[in-house]
Amino acid sequence: MFSFETNKIAGAILGSLLLAMGLGVIGQMIFSHPPLVKPGYDLPAPAEATEGAAATPAVAPLPARLAKADVSKGEASTKACQACHNFEKGAGPKVGPPLYGVVGRPKGSIPGFAYSDAMKAKGGDWTYDDLDQFIANPKGFVNGTKMAFAGEPDPQKRADIIDYLHTLSDSPVPLPAAAAK
Ligand code: HEC
Repeated sequence: MFSFETNKIAGAILGSLLLAMGLGVIGQMIFSHPPLVKPGYDLPAPAEATEGAAATPAVAPLPARLAKADVSKGEASTKACQACHNFEKGAGPKVGPPLYGVVGRPKGSIPGFAYSDAMKAKGGDWTYDDLDQFIANPKGFVNGTKMAFAGEPDPQKRADIIDYLHTLSDSPVPLPAAAAK
């Protein structure tokens, strides 16, 4: 009796082992795959740096843009500025300071005009390059300026405006040599 019970248990264990082995073999047959050529996953390659450059075309340097700038187009574009600025010689401030002779002028230097602290603290003269950056993004260039103008995003329009500002002077500051027309 005892050995009969033992045989049953041994048989059950043996049966289970056989079943497990059999399943393993069948499983290997079903899920077998060719050996990997390269071990591991193929990760997507990082995007080429040039792709990003193509998405946001590089802005031509200011002298190159000034070389093909148009004073009359620039004057027309200052319509957006005239709500706040005078451009004629001898004219006084409006919401913003007068811009005749602004090129080469110390920043925030029109006597009696209430400049923002940020503009007064900026320091230095208005170079062509500074004007390009300020007109592109006033708050980006003078953080805290009270010039409520969003900025002119078109690089060539900015060059046209700057080309026009260049003419508004009794002795215009020479354009960068590379901007010679
Ligand atoms: C909504 C009114 C407004 C508009 C529009 C505006 N400005 Fe101004 N601008 C100001 C004010 C106000 C200041 C003084 C900023 C300060 O003190 O922070 C200023 C300052 C400036 C200065 C510095 C002048 C100095 O004496 O240091 C320049 C340059 C300038 N603006 C150019 C422009 C140009 C170019 C445009 C058009 C593309 C323009 N602004 C449009 C209000 C304006």
